[in-house]
Amino acid sequence: MRQFTRIQEVKDYLKTEIQKGLTIGFVPTMGALHEGHLGLIRRSKLENDITVCSIFVNPIQFNNQEDLAKYPRTFEQDRRMLEEHACDVVFAPEKAEMYPDGEIYLLDIEFGMLDKVMEGKFRPGHFNGVAIVVKKLFDIVKPTRAYFGKKDFQQLAVIKYLVEKLELPVEIISCETIREPDGLAMSSRNTRLTNAERNIAPKIYQILCDVKEKAGTIPVSELKEWGIKKIQENPALRVEYFEIGDKQSLLPAENWKYKNQLVAFIAVFLGEVRLIDNIELFS
Ligand code: PAJ
Repeated sequence: MRQFTRIQEVKDYLKTEIQKGLTIGFVPTMGALHEGHLGLIRRSKLENDITVCSIFVNPIQFNNQEDLAKYPRTFEQDRRMLEEHACDVVFAPEKAEMYPDGEIYLLDIEFGMLDKVMEGKFRPGHFNGVAIVVKKLFDIVKPTRAYFGKKDFQQLAVIKYLVEKLELPVEIISCETIREPDGLAMSSRNTRLTNAERNIAPKIYQILCDVKEKAGTIPVSELKEWGIKKIQENPALRVEYFEIGDKQSLLPAENWKYKNQLVAFIAVFLGEVRLIDNIELFS
């Protein structure tokens, strides 16, 4: 596996590979890799000649400095996991490489409601930071295909929109959420849960499954109330939002008319750790 920390070096390397006519699959990450990330790497390996993984804890997408400081950093272990999965290239730049002093972090794109609801509402500026870094990484790697998890469903919607708006020459591939055997969506943040919290965490997905079972049988507004009540039955879970929304526009649904489009989204705090998950209600 080739390892790069410099933009120019990874660009030069990939340029020659692209010139040979090889396809590039790209998996952007913030490290602390787990099976969720590795699923994306495996899929990219299947569908492309070369797989590139980036590891960069992107400071401008954190609206909470404590979350940034506590974000797990496990580079040596990540490198080993990528090596075992025969990832071809790892690009792990320092902050100063991605954001040299004086650079203005602006992206001239209006996301409409996509970056205003749910995660956008509770983490102001988050998606702007994600969009900037992903655009920058796409410019560097020039991937044929880029792989993102449905675990971060709203992020996926924002990135698809970005690619469409800017007509970026990359195919965005959505990958299913990988879960622990007890249903908890894998996340780098799970390592921050205490044992007691880890035992409660599977409740989040159980509630989503119960909501899916009830979907279509009672009005949307009642189901939302029911979902919130179920979360609140666990005193350890502090609900930030629970929404039922359209998978493209992300706007809240009022009825079941376009039910195949609907996804239930949840964000909760469990102790100090913020966890998100979602479920497609009719597929
Ligand atoms: P990170 O949280 O490291 O996630 C990297 C990719 O892995 C994202 O596409 C995410 O949706 C996917 N992923 C995480 N957990 C998953 C799971 N359990 N199942 C399937 N896919 C999963 O998302 C980011 O980093 C950053 O915002 C990034 C896009 C790299 C920009 O900084």
